[in-house]
Amino acid sequence: MKKIISYIILITLVVLLSGCKNNSHKKIGILIYDKEDTFMKEYLTSVINTIEEEYYYEVGFADRNQLKQTSQFINFIDRKFDLIIVNAVDRLQSGSFIEKAEQNNIPLIFINREPQSLLNDSKNSYYVGSDSKNTGLLQANIVKEMVTNNKIKDKNNDGIIQTIILKGEQSHQDSESRTIEFIDSLGKLDVSYELLAISVANWDRKQAFDKMRELDQMLDNIELIVSNNDDMALGAVDYLKEKYGEIDLKIIGVDGTNSGLNAIDNNEIYATVTNDIVAQTEAIKKITDYLLKGIIDSDFNYEERFQLIKGEIVKK
Ligand code: GAL
Repeated sequence: MKKIISYIILITLVVLLSGCKNNSHKKIGILIYDKEDTFMKEYLTSVINTIEEEYYYEVGFADRNQLKQTSQFINFIDRKFDLIIVNAVDRLQSGSFIEKAEQNNIPLIFINREPQSLLNDSKNSYYVGSDSKNTGLLQANIVKEMVTNNKIKDKNNDGIIQTIILKGEQSHQDSESRTIEFIDSLGKLDVSYELLAISVANWDRKQAFDKMRELDQMLDNIELIVSNNDDMALGAVDYLKEKYGEIDLKIIGVDGTNSGLNAIDNNEIYATVTNDIVAQTEAIKKITDYLLKGIIDSDFNYEERFQLIKGEIVKK
């Protein structure tokens, strides 16, 4: 029985992870660092919807394991895929991916996890991701607007906003730049704040919940939670609801995932900054069409190897 169930699961996986309308289509390999990541799930769906009519594709999920991803990458190379979209587990690994792909004349599009190597020197590799500095600035603008309109409850009446930051993975360009730029911009905007803690929760809702428990002693003092993504913001929401039954502070996220936007509708999260999946997917499609079919869109700058897409503020 166990065997039959595993077999059914395997078949379902194979069907889900590859798509083919026509055998003559060019082949695209897609590598995703973690299939449990909420934002990347929505991103992948959008990429697949955009390419599936015109290209054959296969997806490999790495479960945050670089060795696993490297073997999936080699597999696509050995099977002569025409292009590989890489959401790298370890950004340091991208240099060796670029080298191997160039030896085999296969273009790469890195997405969401920026390669830490000289993409500009590569023949035909690109990066598509969010403009994370801009995201940090927009989060600070949200705080400024809240201060101006007295929307943050000053629990201890000191005129200073007691703040914590929930940070994504260490050394991920989006966690680092969003955090630094947010802090810098608050200073430039003359917002009086006190940073009580920066807590790393690796983009994950459950880990953010646990981090909030660790910060429990200071919870009564916190007036603002700024999160590097919506899922961690939701982890904070979960914890506050469990502890107090209500949320009496302001929370800001990033991404604009379906669950994040629902939480804004329900007044659990105040605002988010989008990590624009539609625009990023469009850029991926344009680069793909250019590299694999020679189609040129005169409005697109193919010289720019780092396509950084700005987000927008969403609030109720
Ligand atoms: C970020 C996003 C996070 C997470 C991460 C994965 O851009 O905001 O939610 O998906 O990428 O690399």
